Amino acid sequence: MKELSKIIDEKLSELNFAANKPHELYAPADYVLSLGGKHIRPLFTLLACKLFERDTKDNGENTALPQALGVEIFHNFTLLHDDVMDNASVRRGKPTVHIKWNTGTAILSGDAMLVLAYMQITNAPAEKLPTLLKSFNYTALGVCEGQQYDMNFETKTEVTLSEYMEMIRLKTAVLIAGALDLGAIMGGATENERAVLREYGTNIGLAFQLQDDLLDLYADEKTFGKKIGSDITEKKKTYLYIKALELLQEQNCTQERALLINALQQSDVSTIKTLYGKINVKTCCQKEIENYYGTALAALSELPNNNAKKEIETLTETLLNRNR
Ligand code: IPE
Ligand code: IPE
Ligand code: MG
Ligand code: MG
Ligand code: MG
Repeated sequence: MKELSKIIDEKLSELNFAANKPHELYAPADYVLSLGGKHIRPLFTLLACKLFERDTKDNGENTALPQALGVEIFHNFTLLHDDVMDNASVRRGKPTVHIKWNTGTAILSGDAMLVLAYMQITNAPAEKLPTLLKSFNYTALGVCEGQQYDMNFETKTEVTLSEYMEMIRLKTAVLIAGALDLGAIMGGATENERAVLREYGTNIGLAFQLQDDLLDLYADEKTFGKKIGSDITEKKKTYLYIKALELLQEQNCTQERALLINALQQSDVSTIKTLYGKINVKTCCQKEIENYYGTALAALSELPNNNAKKEIETLTETLLNRNR
């Protein structure tokens, strides 16, 4: 896996978009891609391909490399736009593109990155193209739908847990499942194998976003690379918030419930953190995360046993214990 990570790092830096003109359009793409990131989506694409290539290709070739790069470029495009939408000033420990340049640049460079992502993803044998495009179009549109729900919920007071889960399925899990699917397509997986792997990806993706919401409040800011408490400042309806309201309701704590609603309206991070601490909502969230990881791993048992699968399992464990 270290080797694959290294390949992804190298190939991403070789892209060197800023060699093109106008510089202002391409420089933000190189900038955001050079800031690192965990690269879990491209890793999933490469591993999914290896999972199904079976033993025919154990020569170190990475058939799904363009698709892996495309997925990472797409992910970074979503981050440029997401940071505008979320008023985020820091990502990966550095100023976001709309702060370093301006909002117009973040929008247009992001648009260019979407196209650059398509160029990579369609760098494949002609017979694979319809399937790749169908899969990726579904993914890309899903992310937009999820992002819109995420925004809608900022001004919606009563969001249910199931509405929240559907929102994060779309904004986050669909892309992780989609990253795996592109790899699976390149590796020659059957429809059924693809569906099983997407099931794994969806559950990993749900756990991943629940963790992101948890880390948004509880991580170490330097390690996490994003501003702590930003979901509260942006009035996001996270798992923590929705579950906290639910718990306070069950315990008939009407006053505290009103206090929490009010604190979110005032973007009062410390009051909210104290309230969450009292009712232990963090533990509920952690349990939920473990549940989704468990469900994800169970889906894997239906798939071929080989080295790639072991790597996927290892990556799953690493993700479960992530702090950034
Ligand atoms: C951030 O994704 C956006 C979410 C879906 C939570 P990552 O946590 O994978 O961000 P990087 O790419 O590692 O910076
Ligand atoms: C991630 O949601 C979803 C996408 C980027 C599409 P967040 O808004 O929580 O992601 P971060 O925390 O800014 O990385
Ligand atoms: Mg967002
Ligand atoms: Mg955000
Ligand atoms: Mg977040």
